Amino acid sequence: MKNSFGSSVSITLFGESHGEMIGAVLDGMAPGIFVDEDFIRHQLSLRRPQGVGATSRVEPDDFKIISGVKEGRTTGTPLCILIPNCDVRSSDYDEDLLRPGHADYAGYCKYHGFEDRAGGGHFSGRLTAPLVAIGAIALSALRESGIFIGSHIAKLGGVSDRGFSNSVLDDIELLEDLPFPTLDEKAGEEMQQEILAAYDNEDSLGGVLETIVTGLPAGVGEPWFDTVEGLLSHALFSIPAVKGVEFGEGFGFADLPGSEANDAFLLSGRDIVTETNHNGGVNGGITNGMPLLFRCAFKPTPSIGQEQNTVNLRTMTEETIALSGRHDACILPRARVVVDSVAALAICDLLAQRFGTDFLNPEE
Ligand SMILES: Cc1cc2nc3c(=O)[nH]c(=O)nc-3n(C[C@H](O)[C@H](O)[C@H](O)COP(=O)(O)O)c2cc1C
Repeated sequence: MKNSFGSSVSITLFGESHGEMIGAVLDGMAPGIFVDEDFIRHQLSLRRPQGVGATSRVEPDDFKIISGVKEGRTTGTPLCILIPNCDVRSSDYDEDLLRPGHADYAGYCKYHGFEDRAGGGHFSGRLTAPLVAIGAIALSALRESGIFIGSHIAKLGGVSDRGFSNSVLDDIELLEDLPFPTLDEKAGEEMQQEILAAYDNEDSLGGVLETIVTGLPAGVGEPWFDTVEGLLSHALFSIPAVKGVEFGEGFGFADLPGSEANDAFLLSGRDIVTETNHNGGVNGGITNGMPLLFRCAFKPTPSIGQEQNTVNLRTMTEETIALSGRHDACILPRARVVVDSVAALAICDLLAQRFGTDFLNPEE
């Protein structure tokens, strides 16, 4: 599938950054799930640019659900959500100049020049808006089943946040409404200073988002090709600018002996749990009942004001490009709600594959 993800619960994305509308179709979601439009609006507000070094393109995101919902609940048939693009300004840069680090050239090679390149076209971060809107439905369905997801900026501009504590639900609640999601306030302030410095220097920054999922039942996932890590990575790498995904200790396992890397088992009442969670809640591609923990590495925003070498596609000459248009000096504060949404959709799909599509129905 090209612009779709998921086997049992699937999403299809459509639209372009400067087109009339963008949107998504959610299919296979259980009937009877509450669709809380206020929560969708709240999630979209977290994706909207705000704070230091944020793009001045601000969209109202006045979404409309045109199918799949009746009297506030999913019907179980395809749910289509549309979001108009209102704050469009195509004159910001010459579309023939390929933006280094962006998808202009790769997209041209695939679509032979028929693609709509304005504002990044179909590759634009703008398309994460319908992803977040649909993700909000998945997130609320998971919450009804006791599954909670939260992400924080773990690393940015050389500053590190503290990790999740043992009071995971408190941490998730703390992050919920924060426009700049860090667990440690001081780390957040230092990171924002780094973004500001990059912005003043007409540059941009990347970083790492860390995500935790609690309440997932043990035994979800498949042992080989449809592992929990595999399916989640597939979905997470769809997010523009994600260049790395790791689970548990991830690449840090390279520095650990087995005696430290293993998660020893113990009993908590009648439940089998582990003393540590280096494996991030997954063994053999299958959840083990511990919190699912993963990190996404984001590259710095490709569009920057500094002058860079490039090629003009129309004249086929070497030129320079300096982007004076609207872009974020760092996308991580906005991207965390995208990661939560994509993770929620992938987890709904995994749960539906394991327990059936009606599993998330609150009346089941
Ligand atoms: C929420 C969000 C907002 C983004 N905003 C911008 C932006 O303002 N300018 C930009 O050049 N890239 C932005 N990006 C990243 C590009 O879309 C992405 O780097 C590009 O499509 C190339 O894909 P790749 O980095 O995965 O290779 C954004 C990404 C996300 C997730």
